[in-house]
Amino acid sequence: MKFFDIYNQDKKLHQEILNNLKLLFKKTDFILGSSVEKFEKKFANYCNTKYAIGCANGTDAIYLALKSLNLKKNSEVIMPAMTYCSTIFSIIRAGLKPVLVDIEKNSPVISNEKIIKKITNKTKVVLLVHLYGESCRYYKLKKMLERKKIVILEDASQAHGAFDYSSGKKGKKVGSQGELGCFSLYPGKNLGAYGDAGIITTNNKKKYEYLKKIRNLGSKKKYYHDIIGVNSRLDTIQALILSKKLNNLDKYNLNRKKIADIYNKNINNYKIQKLKYSKGCVFHQYVLVVSDIKKFSEYLTSQKIPFSRHYPFPIHKLKAVKKLFLKQKFPNSENLAKNGISIPIDPLMKKRDVLEVCKKINNFK
Ligand SMILES: Cc1ncc(COP(=O)(O)O)c(C=O)c1O
Repeated sequence: MKFFDIYNQDKKLHQEILNNLKLLFKKTDFILGSSVEKFEKKFANYCNTKYAIGCANGTDAIYLALKSLNLKKNSEVIMPAMTYCSTIFSIIRAGLKPVLVDIEKNSPVISNEKIIKKITNKTKVVLLVHLYGESCRYYKLKKMLERKKIVILEDASQAHGAFDYSSGKKGKKVGSQGELGCFSLYPGKNLGAYGDAGIITTNNKKKYEYLKKIRNLGSKKKYYHDIIGVNSRLDTIQALILSKKLNNLDKYNLNRKKIADIYNKNINNYKIQKLKYSKGCVFHQYVLVVSDIKKFSEYLTSQKIPFSRHYPFPIHKLKAVKKLFLKQKFPNSENLAKNGISIPIDPLMKKRDVLEVCKKINNFK
C-alpha cells in the first residue's frame, strides 16, 4: 500500500501526454505557449470563474494575488494559524502584516467567529485556507463582514474542486468565491503537475490583466515592461500535462470522498478522533487526531500502513516567524499540529485496503 501513487493515477494518460509533448518539441513554443492559455481557460471554466492566470507555484500565486490588491505596507491580513508555511511567507513577502486566527474545534478550517474578533481598522484582507480539501465557510463570513471594506482571498491549494455549501443548497466551487483564488499545482495535490506550478482564479478583469503582466516581468507585449514584475510563468510542459490531468479530477475527488466515507463509518476506536468535514470536502488529506502520536505512528509503521503529518507545527511555532507571535495561543491549531496524522487516501485505493486500514486502526490499543 502506498500513501499516494501518482504513477498509477496517471498511467492511462501517459501515452497521450507523450504524444502531445512530441508536438510541443516540434513547435518549440516553450514559454507561455498555447498550452498555457488552453489550460488557463479550462481551469477557469472548471472553477466557474471568468479568468485564470497560471504562475510558477502556489506560493507565488498567493504573493501575486496579494500584490494585485495594491495595499499600503503593513496592512493586516488575517489567516489561519494552521496551514502550510507558504501562506504566511507570501503575506510577509508582499510587505503585509499577518494576523493569526485559530481554526474551529475538530475541524481544519479557520473560525469565522474568531476572525471577527481580530478585525481592526488596519485589516484589509482575510485569506481563507481550505485545508485538507475542506472549504471554509465563505458565505457565512461574507455576511458577517457586511459593509466592511475587507477583501476575501482563498488559498485553495488543497481543495481543487471542493464546494462550499454555506451559501445554500447549490453550493459554490472554491476559488470562485473570493476576489481571487490561489492554487498550488504541486505534484501531490488533488490536481498536480510533474514539477512546480500554480494558478490564480478571478472574475475581475482588471486584476486578470495586472496578473498576466506581473507574472511575466511586467510585460504583456515583448520588450514593453510597464510595471516591475517577477518571472513566475506557468511552464508550458506543465500546462500541457495539467490539461490532461484535469479530465480526471472530478472522478478522483469522488473516489476520495468514497474512501473518506468508509473511514468515517468504520473507524471506531475511543483513542482516535475524527475531524468534522462538510459534504463539499474533497479530502486532500484524511487526518485523524490521536492522543499519543508517537505510539500511534509506531503502531502504523509496524502494521505497514503509510502515514504523513500535515503539519507538525502550527504557523506561530515555525522558527522563521515565531518571534512575530510571542505569547499568542491558538489551542485548536496547536492540538491538530501536535496530534494530527494523515492516513492513506490515494483515489485508486482498493476498498479492501481501506477496510484493512480501518480494522488495523480499530485494533490499536
Ligand atoms: C495551503 C497551501 N498553500 C500554499 C502552498 C504552496 O504551494 P507551492 O508548494 O506550489 O508553492 C501549499 C503547498 O503545499 C499549500 O498546501
